[in-house]
Amino acid sequence: MPKPREITVSVIKADVGGWVGHATMHHELMQVAERALLVAKKSKLLVDFRVTHCGDDLELIMTHTRGTENPKIHKLAWDVFMKATRKAQQLKLYAAGQDLLSDSFSGNIKGMGPGCAEMSFVERKSEPLIIFMADKTSPGAYNLPVFRMFGDPFNTAGLVIDPSMHDGFTFGVLDVLENREVRLSCPEEMYDLLVFLGAPSRYMVHTVYRKKVGEVAAAASTQKLNLMAGRYVGKDDPVLIVRTQSGFPAVGEALEAFAFPHLVEGWMRGSHHGPLMPVATEDAQPTRFDGPPRVIAHGFQLNRGILVGPVDFFGDPSFDLTRQRAMDIADYMRRHGPFEPHRLPLAEMEYTTLPQVKERLEKRFKKPKD
Ligand code: 13P
Ligand code: 13P
Ligand code: MG
Ligand code: MG
Repeated sequence: MPKPREITVSVIKADVGGWVGHATMHHELMQVAERALLVAKKSKLLVDFRVTHCGDDLELIMTHTRGTENPKIHKLAWDVFMKATRKAQQLKLYAAGQDLLSDSFSGNIKGMGPGCAEMSFVERKSEPLIIFMADKTSPGAYNLPVFRMFGDPFNTAGLVIDPSMHDGFTFGVLDVLENREVRLSCPEEMYDLLVFLGAPSRYMVHTVYRKKVGEVAAAASTQKLNLMAGRYVGKDDPVLIVRTQSGFPAVGEALEAFAFPHLVEGWMRGSHHGPLMPVATEDAQPTRFDGPPRVIAHGFQLNRGILVGPVDFFGDPSFDLTRQRAMDIADYMRRHGPFEPHRLPLAEMEYTTLPQVKERLEKRFKKPKD
């Protein structure tokens, strides 16, 4: 029997220039991306696509049949980002080409700056999915909500009452410092899992599998630009794909995981803790202290690879209270000014003046008198 044809969902994103500053995306950059992906769809490289943005990040949502990490798909995305960068340069937008760490494509977009989340699966009878996209934060931001969706029965009723979810899920966690991963089974290894997920600046959930059949349930981008470049190049605003219903969390269970505006790294200059605020796409325009960090959620029904959507989920008024809480927390955090824990600990800062200040004051440091 031939294997049923798998469809691949690839979400690849980059900040190629902000309008104004790091606030949002200029429509001409979106047009460049739309045109290029339409050509790719006509040539049958893509089955379907959507171009959108979260704040200053250009998001390419693509479906195709070539599997994950496909060089043609990654090159397509890279070329779109290069073209959009040239447009950003013409318009003198801010930090044009910010996330592109290389001048030439080398086969796989991972490690070159853009963020990438991909998964392949055989489409179910009905295939509802949600693409989460965030700005002014970093990949570890999804650890808490992904744990809630797939591991926490107080969030996801299905873990308790749906026989097809009751066995739980396996979490793939990446150690970004040592570049190695571990798979942990939930609920049996939940406490081990939380040792890692609770330290999101180093350990990041990148894939979740349904335990029963090993089927992929979620995939997140885990690229950390600051580790890749070894210097400040902007935060690596992450994306996450989640399959929902029929053996996976219901749409509302996946969304419920964002009802609590938890603290994430990012915000101003990529160097502060702030609440992650779920918003409608048109409200993903971080302004207050370049924030607070935002997340949007686009729902699609897949129909033989065609993206039927999006439904802009976080526009719903049921998230108003979350947004209000987020702004109360934002206010509270801001009053710490340059103090931790609003400012990130030294090792996590994207900007720092510490070496220069220390060097200048070196001679004035003395052993304390007892
Ligand atoms: P329906 O009965 O409306 O399909 O809802 C099922 C469900 O999963 C709701 O969370
Ligand atoms: P982005 O990572 O979204 O470009 O933001 C960078 C920044 O410095 C915001 O203050
Ligand atoms: Mg930017
Ligand atoms: Mg950004």
